[in-house]
Amino acid sequence: MHIITIANEKGGVGKTTVTVNLAAALGLHGSRVLVIDLDSQGHATEWLGVPKAQLPQDRSAYAVITRKAPIAQTLLSTHEAGVVLCGAHVLLAQAALELGSHVEGLFGLRDALAAELPFDYVLIDCPPAKGAVVFNALIAAQLVLAPVLSHALSLEGLGELIETVQRVKSRYSPGLLDPMMVINDYEGRASADRQVQEYLRQQFPHTLFQTMIGRDAPLRECFAARESIFRYRRTARSAAQFLALAHEIQEQLHATA
Ligand SMILES: Nc1ncnc2c1ncn2[C@@H]1O[C@H](COP(=O)(O)OP(=O)(O)OP(=O)(O)O)[C@@H](O)[C@H]1O
Ligand SMILES: [Mg+2]
Repeated sequence: MHIITIANEKGGVGKTTVTVNLAAALGLHGSRVLVIDLDSQGHATEWLGVPKAQLPQDRSAYAVITRKAPIAQTLLSTHEAGVVLCGAHVLLAQAALELGSHVEGLFGLRDALAAELPFDYVLIDCPPAKGAVVFNALIAAQLVLAPVLSHALSLEGLGELIETVQRVKSRYSPGLLDPMMVINDYEGRASADRQVQEYLRQQFPHTLFQTMIGRDAPLRECFAARESIFRYRRTARSAAQFLALAHEIQEQLHATA
């Protein structure tokens, strides 16, 4: 079971967009995928068709990371082929306080995922924050995937994320891979976007996925429809890009297995 945490402290870079559509792409490839929504905003939960307000806390990711419920009790089926959800609860917003007081609090998710679970991939959507909830996701991960926008300002904080992942690796998680980045919302006609892409390819020759997710109107719209891009518009450019990204990730993980 491969555990991929989608993280970037910066808000609005496409963490949830990548989580949901990458999960759907992996599901279409025939994999069994679990999405864990750790963001109290619950966007991934809603996107996968589960109204956040209707989800009881003891059947949510909040209960899993605070060790109040086994993960098996929280699994919800979704309308995306092969994709199962462990949804968010508003209490996740306060979970950091509950977890932060002692070091055990950082391992709830890793311990939960040590159970025998019927999945090939687990994708964990993080809130735009740091703190104990995100640490749970970093410590549980095999691979951290950071979406970055091809705008210079979005690169702030990236160095810090990379350092944090290295620290998690050396202290808690020797098997953790180098964090990988994927450029999102790429607008190839804009020279600023091309410059940022060139800069990133130079700086991170081995940890930046070749595939980029372009700026795509249907991708923006499909959240409102509560459908992945594959259900909403199979022919959209971003649908092909997510399939390519899924393929690259599968290759990366198998190369290091
Ligand atoms: N490639 C893209 N093309 C068009 N719109 C996009 C693209 N990627 C993301 N968006 C839009 O940008 C907004 C932010 O994306 P998203 O919610 O996935 O980011 P996020 O990192 O999860 O945000 P947060 O930090 O608040 O959790 C959304 O409205 C989404 O539809
Ligand atoms: Mg999000």
